[in-house]
Amino acid sequence: MKGILLAGGSGTRLYPMTFSISKQIIPVYDKPMIYYPLSTLISSGINDILVITTQKDLPLFQDLLKNGAQWGCKISYKIQYEPNGIAEAFIIAEEFIGNDNVSLILGDNIFYFPSLKNIISSFTQASGASIFAYHVANPSRYGVVEFTNLNQIVSIEEKPINPKSNYAIPGFYFFDSNVVSLAKQLKPSERGELEITDLILKYHNNNQLNVIKMDKGTAWLDTGTVSSLMNAAQFVQVLEKRQGLKVGCVEEQAYLMNYINSQQLKKIANQFKNSYGDYLNSLINE
Ligand code: G1P
Repeated sequence: MKGILLAGGSGTRLYPMTFSISKQIIPVYDKPMIYYPLSTLISSGINDILVITTQKDLPLFQDLLKNGAQWGCKISYKIQYEPNGIAEAFIIAEEFIGNDNVSLILGDNIFYFPSLKNIISSFTQASGASIFAYHVANPSRYGVVEFTNLNQIVSIEEKPINPKSNYAIPGFYFFDSNVVSLAKQLKPSERGELEITDLILKYHNNNQLNVIKMDKGTAWLDTGTVSSLMNAAQFVQVLEKRQGLKVGCVEEQAYLMNYINSQQLKKIANQFKNSYGDYLNSLINE
């Protein structure tokens, strides 16, 4: 399975923080925001990754992530010239996807999944689409999925004013390769975007949608507002300080997935003469 990391948008809700720098580069506690979704992809066993970003921000991401070889990954890049919506990513990524299944993760979505590998391995070979549902207090800000008592899907709506459930759809999706032709059939919504929820609805209408409710022990953190960004950073800080383990550490996940060996990890660790480097070195000695 391939992976798309979408890091577009202009981050206007976080101005002036994001006036001259991409939202997905700003720090969440001790690492750039994009490290979190990137490490989620890597720990899902995905190492062929296309980063889609704006023309302006492309050099920043290339400088930060390079071609991925340092982490045993292949990272390539494409530009989304206009903010035409999340679903446009699949049209931009047509050549990259080819005949493969593909996962899309949003560059500002932070997950803390204790048992990610087990969950994901069930989707990677499947046809159709798989998405998550996560119980939130404020569903109107998200795509919302409504279920019957028997967990059958009743409706899927994008940012409803009166949400029919508390289950939001996080920005981590899995599709078969038909996603490209289905994305091409979409029409822009009222806000002028190709909506991911419309794409998900197409799979649902074909009886090809699988929705998994995330466990209570899982965290999906929002970074869309100044306050939620601060909360996300605090969440990471609390976990990291308490456990002495890092969340969203790309180098660690690449090492755990055997994409890099201990010598390669050591080389990276020695570039950071700080506690981040010490942490990476400690992984080798474990
Ligand atoms: C997007 C999607 C929405 C999803 C959310 C997750 O919203 O349109 O369905 O629930 O990401 O972060 P956006 O944040 O682009 O407004």
